[in-house]
Amino acid sequence: MGRLENKVAIVTGGARGLGAATVRMMVAEGAKVVFGDVLTEEGAALAAELGPTAAFLQMDVTEPAAWDAAIARALEYGPLNVLVNNAAVVHMAALTDTTDDDYMRVFKINQFGTFLGIRAMVEPMKAAGSGSIINVSSIDGLHSAAGLSAYSSTKWAVRGLTKNAAIELGQYGIRVNSVHPGGMYTAMGGAEHSTVEQLNQSTYSQFPIPRVGQPEEVAQLIVFLATDEASYSTGSEFVADGGWFTGMRNPHMPCS
Ligand SMILES: NC(=O)c1ccc[n+]([C@@H]2O[C@H](COP(=O)([O-])OP(=O)(O)OC[C@H]3O[C@@H](n4cnc5c(N)ncnc54)[C@H](O)[C@@H]3O)[C@@H](O)[C@H]2O)c1
Repeated sequence: MGRLENKVAIVTGGARGLGAATVRMMVAEGAKVVFGDVLTEEGAALAAELGPTAAFLQMDVTEPAAWDAAIARALEYGPLNVLVNNAAVVHMAALTDTTDDDYMRVFKINQFGTFLGIRAMVEPMKAAGSGSIINVSSIDGLHSAAGLSAYSSTKWAVRGLTKNAAIELGQYGIRVNSVHPGGMYTAMGGAEHSTVEQLNQSTYSQFPIPRVGQPEEVAQLIVFLATDEASYSTGSEFVADGGWFTGMRNPHMPCS
């Protein structure tokens, strides 16, 4: 028996990367999954691969009507009890080179889209009797880095919103947690331009776990939070970053 039998989940940004790894793992654990994305070809291909317990919808998380459609489709599977707010974009530029449009685009997808998703899920999860909402933030929601003013602000906001929602929704049996990946080998993490070996020889070589992460290594954490195994965890940060946030080995110091 899978760890997610009797669970119905919505996963955003599920056509590739961490979202796709999460959809695959949830289906393998017995969940029924509706996943949305703006990448229709990739999404349709993944749905065809996974069969009847996964359904793909073209979905822009900034559109309230898209949330209504995703929820309606998920309820066809049964009571809706899991949401993974994973869809996001990154914009890399110096703060002074970040335009209003750049900032608002990242804000709308990463932060406002997550808010819309949580708000839309409250009534269906109350009706289901319980729920788990997993918001994908980032290591950049715990610290920041040059060039990430827009991205990092949204990831801190996702972490803050997680805490607010956990406090307000715990009384209905709804848990809300944030997940903080470090660098993962996905399109956002540089996979379109660099091989794993190249990334492993870069800054990653100084991490406590000296390599880039694979999306499955974060999906496992998301799946755990979706299961009832995480029944007493809410409002918390769950980090999978190879130890990045802990500190790096300095090649000029002993023991590195
Ligand atoms: N890759 C990393 O190194 C890394 C590190 C920390 C956090 N994260 C976070 O992990 C999550 C997944 O990122 P990833 O690495 O898989 O990146 P990715 O770019 O491969 O996947 C993101 C997905 O979100 C989708 N998306 C973008 N805008 C959307 C919208 N408006 N509506 C619906 N879908 C939309 C994209 O089409 C894409 O499929 C994101 O929240 C990201 O911020 C990634």
